[in-house]
Amino acid sequence: MSSAEPAGGIQVRNLRFSYGERPVLAGVDLSVRPGEIVGLLGPNGSGKSTLVKVLSGVLRPYEGSATLAGRELKDMATRDVARTLAVVPQEPVFGFSFNALEVVLMGRHPHLAGLAFESESDIAKARTALQRCGALEFAHRPVLELSAGERQRVVAARALAQEPDFLLLDEPSSFMDIRHQVELYDLIRDQSDNEATGVMAVLHDLNIAAEYCDRIYLLKEGRILASGPTAEVFTYANLKATFDTDVYVDVNALTGRMLVVPLSQRRKPR
Ligand SMILES: Nc1ncnc2c1ncn2[C@@H]1O[C@H](COP(=O)(O)OP(=O)(O)OP(=O)(O)O)[C@@H](O)[C@H]1O
Ligand SMILES: [Mg+2]
Repeated sequence: MSSAEPAGGIQVRNLRFSYGERPVLAGVDLSVRPGEIVGLLGPNGSGKSTLVKVLSGVLRPYEGSATLAGRELKDMATRDVARTLAVVPQEPVFGFSFNALEVVLMGRHPHLAGLAFESESDIAKARTALQRCGALEFAHRPVLELSAGERQRVVAARALAQEPDFLLLDEPSSFMDIRHQVELYDLIRDQSDNEATGVMAVLHDLNIAAEYCDRIYLLKEGRILASGPTAEVFTYANLKATFDTDVYVDVNALTGRMLVVPLSQRRKPR
């Protein structure tokens, strides 16, 4: 898909979703354009992972509208969705102990014809994705034996190997050390700049979001509380209203991006 397509991107309009009687998404409007990184931030239980699962076709039915490159998600088969969009889930499930290369090769499955086996080219793409994520050394190790951060690099590689138009990342680096976080998001930035991949990332690290996201949506209790360019959304008032805690917000003197520091609730006002 090229960025010139008028209907490109992800468009979500008045999206509502309930688990049984429990409404979780209460009318969400959101968009992700090709080539941009959008951050979805909000407190625990606000509906971020639910939105990721609805957009990846895992949770149905939903009310309202969600389109991927102009096609209504409701009308797309799971395989069609997987050809367009790759997901790094918050809690990936591994059936039994596949090695890392096998896990990343699963990212190629939506592109295989029928029951065909992976080709040499699929294996090469999987190895390249592992290498880009700094995880090639784990290729032949069972994923369940990897450390939590190592395993996240393998799951990121699976998503890249899928060669998607869109990436949905649900706290993809929650177990990564700072170097591997930076390497992952630099890679994601390259991917969005060079391949026009549209990225939506659920993040709890506000400074990573400030450094990498073009736009931010703040989600609270299933509703978007604020949205826009990161510098406009990351105000003390917006962050306090979203997370119900005090933070110190400033501009990073080195980068010009926003800087957010947590403040102990026990701190006495000066
Ligand atoms: N399968 C389920 N059945 C019923 N309720 C669910 C289910 N999954 C999630 N919920 C509820 O839906 C709400 C939103 O959950 P969700 O996982 O989307 O939150 P989140 O914003 O991703 O939170 P976190 O930051 O903790 O990952 C929560 O109140 C949760 O308890
Ligand atoms: Mg979640």
